[in-house]
Amino acid sequence: MPFFCFPSDFVYWDTVDKHDELKSLILPKILAAKDGNKGNPWKASIVNSSFDYDVGEHDKKNVMLNDLFIMENIVKQPINDVFSQMSKVYPHKIEDLFVKNWWWNVYERGHFQEQHHHNGEPIEKDGKLFHPILSVIYILHDENPSSSVLFTKTAPIPLHGTSRDLTFDTGDLSQVKEGCVLIFPSGLRHCVRPCSVPGRVTISFNVYAKLCDQMEWPIRQNL
Ligand SMILES: [Fe+2]
Repeated sequence: MPFFCFPSDFVYWDTVDKHDELKSLILPKILAAKDGNKGNPWKASIVNSSFDYDVGEHDKKNVMLNDLFIMENIVKQPINDVFSQMSKVYPHKIEDLFVKNWWWNVYERGHFQEQHHHNGEPIEKDGKLFHPILSVIYILHDENPSSSVLFTKTAPIPLHGTSRDLTFDTGDLSQVKEGCVLIFPSGLRHCVRPCSVPGRVTISFNVYAKLCDQMEWPIRQNL
């Protein structure tokens, strides 16, 4: 019974094994930097973020997170898990990946982020073109009773009411909490609901990919 499956949006989550080590390594640095940081560059959000549209400023603020232990445990291993599971059903043409940028967000009481996505222009690296493919959110510290991230796929959605958006609320899941990593395609829209317990700290990463031009999209004989 053959199927052609179009590439799909998804949200993956898992607990990061080395969370305690990562937290003691990273959290003190972010807490030391947050009071000297001026807000965030987004129009409607209220959050203390080290994201900056000025690339030089952005890199300066976030160089403290440029660490192999961080990248291996928060980004590389979870992304390997995503591909080892997802590739069985959904096709992709990813040939090579790199982590383009990363930043921290600190949420005090009532802080939130407007709905947004992480898409951007492709960039050239070593003579090859890389596209934004995946984004990662790592919940470094959070004492809220439930997670605040809401993902939305806008209508029309196949096999769903034609005018209805589909929302996935990570707040419904007890496993999505401090120590958890969320991975999703860069274009998937999401927002962060107002925080009730102050002090939530997350780190975001954007992962870019070189795509294979020659490969055929696979047809599955069984799902
Ligand atoms: Fe985001």
